[in-house]
Amino acid sequence: MSRAIAPALVATLLLGTATSAPLGERLAPCLACHGERGTSGTEGVPSLGGQMPDYVVTQLFQFRERQREAPPMNDMASALSDDDLRGFADAVGALPAPVPAGGPPDPALLARAQALVSKHQCKSCHGAELTGRDALPRIRGQREDYLKAALTAYRSNARPGYDPAMNEVAQTLKDDEIADLAAYIARL
Ligand code: HEC
Ligand code: HEC
Repeated sequence: MSRAIAPALVATLLLGTATSAPLGERLAPCLACHGERGTSGTEGVPSLGGQMPDYVVTQLFQFRERQREAPPMNDMASALSDDDLRGFADAVGALPAPVPAGGPPDPALLARAQALVSKHQCKSCHGAELTGRDALPRIRGQREDYLKAALTAYRSNARPGYDPAMNEVAQTLKDDEIADLAAYIARL
């Protein structure tokens, strides 16, 4: 399933997100895009289920401060307080981990992608199961289109991480290697 994000929807959601409302109510519009059960069904929108809360705080902060340029998130985060960042981060981290899509990787993809994961030591930061730790994000089972876009944006430095590690890792990745990594990690 894939849907595009309508700008009019964003405007409605922003108006509907009164800061006095309880967190659960304020989270509902977020999950309309990101998926109520932790798995996003929307093209370009990442799944948030099981994401590391400390990582989510860094990203909501970067969106708010416009260090990570990513419509609609800069507008969504502009009015959030520091307490909100933590509250939203804990709430999304408690959602079920994303359900992987695309079926098991074929043996050729598996071999190519595992070699890349090992060469670039993805597990040394993202964890042995790529499920993240502390402020290092979970990437296992994330949407393939989003993974591809994220790695491409790190490579061009369009997305500066809170730490330059990913920009360095992505510098040497070729397009077909990014495609293989995204296809493999999304299927885990
Ligand atoms: C209209 C759809 C939409 C709404 C509503 C929305 N988001 Fe997002 N969100 C996105 C998109 C698209 C991205 C990816 C942006 C990019 O990287 O280009 C994103 C990215 C994120 C990320 C970064 C995830 C990662 O893996 O780095 C977090 C965290 C997040 N959103 C939380 C929220 C929260 C909390 C709310 C509610 C306050 C919210 N979002 C509302 C569309 C939406
Ligand atoms: C030295 C540590 C390190 C290594 C090695 C590393 N990463 Fe990362 N990765 C990070 C950090 C830190 C971030 C968060 C940066 C930010 O703020 O955007 C990140 C973010 C990501 C994201 C974005 C997640 C999201 O939800 O938006 C993806 C995808 C990713 N890494 C994939 C990989 C892959 C694939 C490899 C191996 C090819 C890898 N990483 C190797 C540290 C690392």
